[in-house]
Amino acid sequence: MAIRFYKIYDFKQDGSEPQALYSARTIEIENKRICLTRLPDGYYAIDDACPHAGARLGLGKCTEDEMIICPIHRYQYNLKTGRGLPKQGDYVNTYPTETRADGVYVGFEKKWWQF
Ligand code: FES
Repeated sequence: MAIRFYKIYDFKQDGSEPQALYSARTIEIENKRICLTRLPDGYYAIDDACPHAGARLGLGKCTEDEMIICPIHRYQYNLKTGRGLPKQGDYVNTYPTETRADGVYVGFEKKWWQF
């Protein structure tokens, strides 16, 4: 599996802090919606669709204990592992992120036919 990194923020255009701390937003890569969040130690990307009933996690709320709270029924998922709370028993996919000298990147697996 090959991972391709997509530039989401360009520090020259978007400034050095393009997303507020503890904020979430939805981005789109290869026609897939991904929830991008920012914690004090960096950016974290997870699936945008909540596995419970499909709400957009990009509209959710990040907490200081590294969780995102779904805006509809308030299920919670860890932003670093994707795991839901133990009683929920579900999880969301996570995606690698890199903060480089020129911007913030999110890694997305490309299929061989997309190269
Ligand atoms: S849709 Fe997210 S908790 Fe129900």
